Amino acid sequence: MTRIYIAGHRGMVGSALVRVAKQRGYSEILTRTHQELDLLNSQEVDKFFAVEKPDWVFLAAAKVGGIYANDTYRADFLLENLKIQINVIESAYKHNASKLLFLGSSCIYPKNAPQPIKETDLLTSELESTNEPYAIAKIAGIKLCGAFNSQYGTNYISVMPSNLYGIGDNYHPENGHVLPMLLRRFHEAKLNNDQTVTVWGTGKPKREFLFADDMAEACFYLMENYQAADIGELINIGTGEEISIRDLAYLIKKVVGYEGEIVFDTTKKDGTMLKKMDVSRLEKLGWKYKLTLEEGIRETYNDFINNPDVRL
Ligand SMILES: NC(=O)c1ccc[n+]([C@@H]2O[C@H](COP(=O)([O-])OP(=O)(O)OC[C@H]3O[C@@H](n4cnc5c(N)ncnc54)[C@H](OP(=O)(O)O)[C@@H]3O)[C@@H](O)[C@H]2O)c1
Repeated sequence: MTRIYIAGHRGMVGSALVRVAKQRGYSEILTRTHQELDLLNSQEVDKFFAVEKPDWVFLAAAKVGGIYANDTYRADFLLENLKIQINVIESAYKHNASKLLFLGSSCIYPKNAPQPIKETDLLTSELESTNEPYAIAKIAGIKLCGAFNSQYGTNYISVMPSNLYGIGDNYHPENGHVLPMLLRRFHEAKLNNDQTVTVWGTGKPKREFLFADDMAEACFYLMENYQAADIGELINIGTGEEISIRDLAYLIKKVVGYEGEIVFDTTKKDGTMLKKMDVSRLEKLGWKYKLTLEEGIRETYNDFINNPDVRL
């Protein structure tokens, strides 16, 4: 039986990987909380791998945060993510893990990359400056996996998911992503019988959203069916479908059952008009997402209602 180590299993991505691993019948799933194993500590990481000897490693542990945290704690974001990656990837190699999957994100791509963003756009022009340290760490992780593959013939896969949402999301009113923040806002407006909900900007920008459990399915699909050499240096994971913030707001209003009006505050900035991944490489390998956005939002809303702990 394949022994699987999921690093970062309490995070949104890691917990989705654990759920999907169980659904797919894997029973030997190794997890350690941050308190039990600090991935910044190379000796402890090495000891863990020496004792547990996982066959497959999913690296979903990272220091993550919103724009403010990324821009303020620039050194911490660069240093901690580099250390976590180096410790886990080096120990996986030293203790003969047969496969590893490294989680990156779409912020590794240049700020002005043509849309939809292709894997080949990596390192073609400058990055968004606010989260540059995080992106540089992630790019180093991709390059480290690639370098191990070419020098030592390892099987390390790097995946770049689009915007994720789902069970265990971050609903913080300022630090979260747009989808969970709107979900929270509409829910509170419903409870308070507010007449209106204000959405910042014109609602015209378009974004792509992928349910975290679907993303986890894609990760297992790749690990089970492909070798790193079939995949290339990195692979995008997304739906390939975008929705305007306006339509997203109306969809969330419907799922939540809010009956008031939506007001768009056009004095607020819109941001980039379109952010979307080119997922044709993944589709050619035979994978497509399962849940529609509405189904995914319903699952997420159920989780939000039933787990008061996730509401900060
Ligand atoms: N969420 C998204 O929309 C998204 C999109 C694309 C890619 N990704 C990628 O997916 C990965 C995971 O993201 P996520 O959203 O699941 O983040 P998350 O919810 O913050 O989870 C990260 C996990 O890593 C753990 N961790 C952090 N530092 C650690 C350390 N030094 N030792 C041990 N554990 C540590 C955290 O534990 P503690 O909380 O206890 O510190 C947490 O459980 C990241 O690489 C991210 O770039 C996420």
